[in-house]
Amino acid sequence: MTLAIVSALPDELAALQARLDVDHASTLAGRTLHSGRLAGHEVILVLSGVGKVAAATTAALLLDRFDVRALLFTGVAGGLGTGVAVGDVVIGRQFLQHDMDASPLFPRWEVPMTGRSRFDADAAWSDRLVASAHQVLASEHPALASFGITAPRVHQGLVISGDRFVSSAAECARLQAELPDALAVEMEGAALAQVAHDFGRPCAVLRTISDRADDAAHVDFPRFLRMVAAEYARDIVLAALTA
Ligand code: ADE
Repeated sequence: MTLAIVSALPDELAALQARLDVDHASTLAGRTLHSGRLAGHEVILVLSGVGKVAAATTAALLLDRFDVRALLFTGVAGGLGTGVAVGDVVIGRQFLQHDMDASPLFPRWEVPMTGRSRFDADAAWSDRLVASAHQVLASEHPALASFGITAPRVHQGLVISGDRFVSSAAECARLQAELPDALAVEMEGAALAQVAHDFGRPCAVLRTISDRADDAAHVDFPRFLRMVAAEYARDIVLAALTA
């Protein structure tokens, strides 16, 4: 069985990919799948592209075509929760699509016909990622100072997803008011979790906070992805695989 590791953007996966032994590339529905070994584990690394449809398609292909034991998603997110700052890491325990609204036919946020608005992450994988994130964030990271990050923290809880990059203080405030337990907003996690639920397979999501989802939403996004988020993803996933 293999572990599938998915990111939306190339810069989010690059550092992990550089550690892949025996990189065998194949193509499926326009996606390049890199198969090989990471820390002795059989893995497939793949870029989903951005957004819920891209993530759901990727997850469904991986789970249907390969003997995937778990789906891990790594990337960046906007911080929503109090104290969730740029440079922090969020492990999603539950996922919700903030732009799902079939009301009045179904309650707001509920995925019609499923009876639920929240989908769970796998507890064991998430525990492992939390422990590894604590370990990695406790060690020195030279790039942090240039982003003004001094004491990064690990959070776990609700991550919300939608097909929109949230970059206005007004939308950020609306999401915070409507979903006060949401820690972070991104564009794929809830789609991945719904598909994993349909297939009865475990999934886990690890996000580095790149911005506060407000008017200042990160100017230096590409540099942050390469210098902080990609390196966290590499170090945290490798630590989780060797734990
Ligand atoms: N990914 C990183 N930052 C984000 C934001 N502000 N909104 C949605 N997805 C994101």
